[in-house]
Amino acid sequence: MDILLILASGLTLIVFGVLWVQKRFTYWKKMGIPYEVPHFLYGNLKGVGQYDHDGLLTQKFYEKFKGISPIVGVYYSIKPVAIFIDINLIKDILIKDFASFHDRGIYYNERDDPLSTHLISLPGGKWKQLRNTCSPAFTSLKMKTMFSTMMEVGVKLEKKIDQVCKSGKALDIKKVMSLFTMDVIGSCAFGLETNSLEDENNEFFRMGISVFDNPRYSTRSTFVLQAFRGYARKLRLKLFRDEVIKFYTDLVRNTIDYRLKKKEGRNDFMQILIQLHTSKGEDNLSFNEVLGQTFVFHIAGFEASASILQFCFYELACNPDIQNRLRHHINQVLRKHDGEVTYEAIMDMKYLDQVVNETLRKNPPFGMLSRETTLNYKIPGTDCILEKGTSLHIPIYAIHHDPEFYPNPSKFNPDNFSEEAVKNRHPIAFLPFGAGPRACIGVRFGMMQVKLGVITGLRKFKYTLSPKTRQPIKLQSKFFVAQPEGGIWLNIESVD
Ligand code: HEM
Repeated sequence: MDILLILASGLTLIVFGVLWVQKRFTYWKKMGIPYEVPHFLYGNLKGVGQYDHDGLLTQKFYEKFKGISPIVGVYYSIKPVAIFIDINLIKDILIKDFASFHDRGIYYNERDDPLSTHLISLPGGKWKQLRNTCSPAFTSLKMKTMFSTMMEVGVKLEKKIDQVCKSGKALDIKKVMSLFTMDVIGSCAFGLETNSLEDENNEFFRMGISVFDNPRYSTRSTFVLQAFRGYARKLRLKLFRDEVIKFYTDLVRNTIDYRLKKKEGRNDFMQILIQLHTSKGEDNLSFNEVLGQTFVFHIAGFEASASILQFCFYELACNPDIQNRLRHHINQVLRKHDGEVTYEAIMDMKYLDQVVNETLRKNPPFGMLSRETTLNYKIPGTDCILEKGTSLHIPIYAIHHDPEFYPNPSKFNPDNFSEEAVKNRHPIAFLPFGAGPRACIGVRFGMMQVKLGVITGLRKFKYTLSPKTRQPIKLQSKFFVAQPEGGIWLNIESVD
């Protein structure tokens, strides 16, 4: 009798569970929004963490529903998510209607994992205050003052490439560029000579890389955790591994203590954050806030820039004419500036700007942007309402590969960023750094280190693709930041 009762209760629970999931999957139908039919077990997340990078997954929905609907409803596990397709609507939500979309809806947990509490994840008022407080650290003037520190690392990068060139071995461009960007951000954020370019085994490099290479959860689990962040917070789940939390907490605490004791001031992000930490005003930052921001500047600072640099050198190796033209252009501008790589000389390199932008167009480090509705939102031109709290994605990769905006999108063509081409294109069809008040705060810093990396790598060396590089390139599914499977390997020769 007892067994029968247990079986009957179990069966009833399963039936209720199935009915509940089925009801959840009627959400988009009820809202009158076209949707992708979900699979019972994983919604429309098939592929994430298995076969497809998130940029490619959202591209599938974009291509299927473009011209049919301004948005498409999908399910990440059982969580409804809207993918935006119409470019004017995307412009509205990023800029004009920002008041209804100022949050990303990203998981953070200040109590158990202070590293997760930063500008990217924070919502509403907290975000706004922090953004205003941190913005002065990223002005053109601040970038100019940091340039000499960056340049010192550029010299070490040239030495490293020269060593590989002389060894006759193929260059793992992502690795070398990660060492470079890690040292740049180490010196500009923490005032530390991390020396990754000289010692790849140092703790700073190992720990920073491990945030991406060895995350606490798989990509798919991270999607599910984001979908149920209220429960995740109650369960006190952390986003980063304990070892990583400890490393950054100790690093930031020791740096603050050292500088306050020695009364040592420096020209870096850390100094700006310490000033805010010790200030008595409204803009005072707690230790955890300093920790979260330092962490995010560090992590955002090196990985995305290293990703752009590897793709840029890949494209240059595949397109020798563009490579030669760019090298010639760089040398020509440098001659105008007395042969010195200066901030002003870099700003003067128009063709370099086109090449980097085309790299960002074809290979954006992030495949999509995230937002969450903070108010009910009526989709213009339709009767559909997006309810407050709906998660949405803007498919950057898909827009960048849409032939409506970029004819022949799989071709690497820096002319896509000639003045004329930019003027004639929809302003929101290029989104590597997002747009609107929540766009990337580090765009100037990121572009400057990427351009310095290209100049340093290209002035004295020529590149061709090594047979070790897997062709065609396939993006790894397990990383949020675009990363080709097997890496990019290049043959180097010195320029006579
Ligand atoms: C050069 C490569 C970089 C790329 C491609 C990139 C891309 C992005 C993107 C797509 C966003 C989201 C924008 C949106 O939602 O509209 C973002 C936000 C952000 N990025 Fe970057 N980023 C880069 C470099 C950096 C650097 C160097 C830093 C800091 C040193 C940085 C710090 C941030 C922060 C703090 C945010 C959140 C801004 C906010 O919500 O107010 N990024 N970035």
